[in-house]
Amino acid sequence: MGTQRDDGDGAVRQPGLDTQAVRTGIERTAYQEHSEPIFLSSSFVFESAAQAAARFSGDDPGFVYSRASNPTVTAFQNRLAALEGAEACVATASGMSAIMAVVMSLTATGAHVVAARELFGATLQMFGILERFGVAVSYVRVTEPDAWRAALRPETRLFYLESPSNPLTTVADLRAISAIARAAGVPLAVDNCACSPILQRPLELGVDIVVHSATKYLDGQGRVMGGAVLGARAYIEETLLPFVRTTGPTLSAFNAWVLLKGMETLGLRMERQSANALALAGWLEAHPAVARVLYPGLASHPQHALAMSQQRTGGAVVAFEVRGADEDERRAAAWRVIDHCRLLSITANLGDVKTTITHPASTTHARVGPEVRAAAGIGEGLIRIAVGVENLEDLAADLARGLESA
Ligand SMILES: Cc1ncc(COP(=O)(O)O)c(C=O)c1O
Repeated sequence: MGTQRDDGDGAVRQPGLDTQAVRTGIERTAYQEHSEPIFLSSSFVFESAAQAAARFSGDDPGFVYSRASNPTVTAFQNRLAALEGAEACVATASGMSAIMAVVMSLTATGAHVVAARELFGATLQMFGILERFGVAVSYVRVTEPDAWRAALRPETRLFYLESPSNPLTTVADLRAISAIARAAGVPLAVDNCACSPILQRPLELGVDIVVHSATKYLDGQGRVMGGAVLGARAYIEETLLPFVRTTGPTLSAFNAWVLLKGMETLGLRMERQSANALALAGWLEAHPAVARVLYPGLASHPQHALAMSQQRTGGAVVAFEVRGADEDERRAAAWRVIDHCRLLSITANLGDVKTTITHPASTTHARVGPEVRAAAGIGEGLIRIAVGVENLEDLAADLARGLESA
């Protein structure tokens, strides 16, 4: 269903993001249902052998087989593309399969990738796996745009980063790094899952490719796994889609439907979760047991001004460090804080309406090893909270109980 609006003066206006989040992507069936239907069908029937042939050749654009395309998945892709301001989108089974598809669609043995040091643990591990297949990776800091230019080689095929990063909320200058990428003719891919398109639209800042773990804020209620890749139609349809449809990391129609429902409340949730996060970050900063708070919405964040020039809020992830004489003491203190919280869920996910608390060094970033963790700045005293929609006083009271034990 089209969502463009003609207000009577002849000018066609794009509706706002909250309108698009509930309205874009709906193709009503003959039953005129109001809520989006789910098409749980592996394949689609042809009227004749000639139509089957035309569908397979692409001359007839209808659906064939759900590994390649499905109406519910298409609705999800169209809605997310509208929110990100992208020409095209391909959904995937998880965030990691979206990242893997981007990297593998653009590289081959002998290719080189420049990646941020500050990345989600599994993304760092995935680059390690790709090195086994002869893809070289150079790691540079997102806070040093010149290092990206210096890392370029003739065989560089991709720049890859996330902003703000998980878990330290380090912010990349998306305009500066995309200008370097553009001058070199190398695509820049950005993981936008910490912000969602409600808070940050990387394509408008010059980024070429956006990836999502839809598992996070797009679902928003911790139910399903999903991922997506967005960008220019030529890249998505000619380079990425052939890879995804052949290798099969397909989003299920059921998960696409859950994500469509999740996106309806994305704007409301991001607003409330960001407001809770800002208030909690300020409260944590004043707490004597806390050594340091990292939240892009706080004036004390090293890249606060940059974050506010490219994101609408600081987001809903807050990282903080507890005190201790050495790494062993800091780990013990961090674990005590976590174990004394009764409301916050000790779980690895983020983006849920329920606030979650995690010790990155021993969970999400445990497998990357101490050297990579040290290079990324992830110490034993670090705790990540992904703030939900609960009442602020209850979250602060729970954290206060935890911090008393530190
Ligand atoms: C920043 C970031 N990117 C990607 C992923 C991977 O997404 P998924 O778990 O959906 O594969 C995660 C998961 O935590 C993440 O935090």
